[in-house]
Amino acid sequence: AGPTREAIDPVRYISNHSTGKMGYSIAYKAVDRGAKVYLISGPTSLKAPEGVQLIPVNSAREMHEKIMEHYDEADIVIMSAAVADYAPAITHQQKVKKSDEKLILELVKNPDILYELGKIKGDKILVGFAMETENLVENAKEKVSKKNLDFIVANDLFTEGAGFGTDTNVVKIIDRRGNVESLPKMAKLDLADLILDRIIKL
Ligand code: CTP
Repeated sequence: AGPTREAIDPVRYISNHSTGKMGYSIAYKAVDRGAKVYLISGPTSLKAPEGVQLIPVNSAREMHEKIMEHYDEADIVIMSAAVADYAPAITHQQKVKKSDEKLILELVKNPDILYELGKIKGDKILVGFAMETENLVENAKEKVSKKNLDFIVANDLFTEGAGFGTDTNVVKIIDRRGNVESLPKMAKLDLADLILDRIIKL
């Protein structure tokens, strides 16, 4: 759950607007149903639900490492994290001082965690999330097949009631056969239940 932070120097980082609400809602509902839950989370201001084992991380690489440490144990992996796709090529050990008019930051690709998990899926259930600003269904379908997912929960950032920091979401669930289920606006906690119901069905 949550965002990742990719350090530029000891003071600064690259990140995104994810608050972790969706992922923490799923963790809460899963533990409520009796699951053993590891919540591998980037920095958020949320409290981990009781009974959940919180594993805090910062960067995408760290998130990848922690997921791999627990992967064998898992029957279900739900990736609601907003993983940064790129990280600074160099993390400076000291604060970068202001100098020229222009500063060029070189970025290198982070691992695509879900894609890597998809390659070793076996009989685990893999669920992804996708936030898009255009061509939602087309882009989400491509992610389901590329990352070898059972289904993806996709939302459009510009839809009212969907997106970062809200208590509600408006999503489409797209499975590996290409079925598209359009859901109305609902509380993230209710959506968490619905996602778990879909997983149980599988
Ligand atoms: N994801 C991941 N590792 C990454 C990037 C994304 O595991 N480096 C996961 C996300 O947690 C999410 C899914 O992949 O469950 C889709 O993420 P998204 O950012 O929508 O897709 P990308 O593959 O990064 O494609 P793009 O950013 O180009 O839309």
